[in-house]
Amino acid sequence: MEKQEAKSLGRRLVLVVFPFQGHINPMLQLATILNSKGFSITIVHPQFNSPNHAKHPEFSFVSLPDGLSKSNISPTDLVALISALKTNCEAPFQQYLEEMLKVDDPHDRVACVVYDGFMHFAQVVANNLKLPGINVRTSAVATLLFFAVFPRAHDQGYISFKECLAQAPAPELQSLDFNDVLGPAEIPTPLLELRATVTHATKKASAVIVNTMHFLEQQTMSKVHEYFPSPIFCIGPFHKLAPPSASSTSLLKEDTSCISWLDKQAPNSVIYISFGSMVSMDEKELVEIAWGLANSEQPFLWVVRPGLVHGSEWIELLPESFKERVEGRGCIVKWAPQKEVLAHGAVGGFWSHCGWNSTMESVCEGVPMLCRPYFGDQGLGARYVCRVWKVGLELEGVLERGKIERAIRTLMVDSEGVEIRERAKDLKEKADLCLSEDGSSYNALNELAQHILSF
Ligand code: UDX
Repeated sequence: MEKQEAKSLGRRLVLVVFPFQGHINPMLQLATILNSKGFSITIVHPQFNSPNHAKHPEFSFVSLPDGLSKSNISPTDLVALISALKTNCEAPFQQYLEEMLKVDDPHDRVACVVYDGFMHFAQVVANNLKLPGINVRTSAVATLLFFAVFPRAHDQGYISFKECLAQAPAPELQSLDFNDVLGPAEIPTPLLELRATVTHATKKASAVIVNTMHFLEQQTMSKVHEYFPSPIFCIGPFHKLAPPSASSTSLLKEDTSCISWLDKQAPNSVIYISFGSMVSMDEKELVEIAWGLANSEQPFLWVVRPGLVHGSEWIELLPESFKERVEGRGCIVKWAPQKEVLAHGAVGGFWSHCGWNSTMESVCEGVPMLCRPYFGDQGLGARYVCRVWKVGLELEGVLERGKIERAIRTLMVDSEGVEIRERAKDLKEKADLCLSEDGSSYNALNELAQHILSF
């Protein structure tokens, strides 16, 4: 579809963002992709963790009062967070859209609301105003099932997908070990209710967009279609379909000095370690990681976010003897330009928490992974990497330096890791095909653009 086509029809898309780095990145990348297809874009976001408007002059921004502050909300308490966002943002969002619908200029005519699945109230507002809503999954297609719960007959509460699985085992999902990854048998009622609300909104959506590639989740996809009637567009990974000129969407300042450091390292020799924007760990784990890295004798680039260990400023908890031992062989930064790092020829492995963005970024660059998931969808990401695509190793149980040292050497240099490293390169080639002309993500994006124009 030509850029002009959407412009001349005057289509504005209103994108609603969930305010955390792992969601802001893919949502702004999606905005850039849709903009490149000719749609005008308004980004609606809570005040908390506001994206930098100045970096994206091509978009309009609307900031909603949210009642959140860094001190009163934990990003891992999804139930409290999503419910606070609904309580505080739903009414101002509806007011804003009502005003937008009065605008006569055809270029500002709102075609639909495109919202992060956790901002489910946006679908309710879209329904109220008779606008189409498009639900965005910034994670795997499998998370649609992960979250899915269904009303039980005769008002008896809800049944989770896990219970559905038990009743009708689905062999293709066994490799993901879904039962295990879905967590405790008894899901607390507030979480069950949240999942039901999110699932309900998804079912009401006119379409679902997912940040994944069809071939990565083929088996799961057919199961998802059984439960979700809306068309599903797998147009990921967004960061690869977004124009290369797109600005950084990082909330933290990227330390680019690590790229010059990587330039001096041998090809495929460096292990990159990052646990994303939310994970925290205790001091003991941090110190075990440090010694595991030191003893592996591999060069490493390690992102130690301020606060990675609760209350720490940065690397003051690391022993001086460790710092002396790895001088010149290790580079530690507060925040890295991760996509650039993973694309660098010196990087040969990625130790990750398996957040979905990190997982997709690694797959696209053919970098094998060491997986250490902490919460939420990270366990699912790790299962895909290690058991389904087989391009990584999982570090399970208590983190201990000897175990870490062995895992790093297997991933990076030992003969046991050869097949993993080769499969990672193969996966990158498949990803390249999927993103190129006539590939599945490329085609799905064109189909999505046509779908929006048909509203
Ligand atoms: C969160 C959840 O933890 C994750 O499981 C979910 O899938 C998305 O929301 P986060 O923990 O931050 O995200 O991890 P991830 O999804 O990997 O996103 C992190 C993003 O920050 C990536 O796009 C990565 O490129 C970027 N990043 C990370 C940097 O730019 N620099 C860094 O130093 C580290």
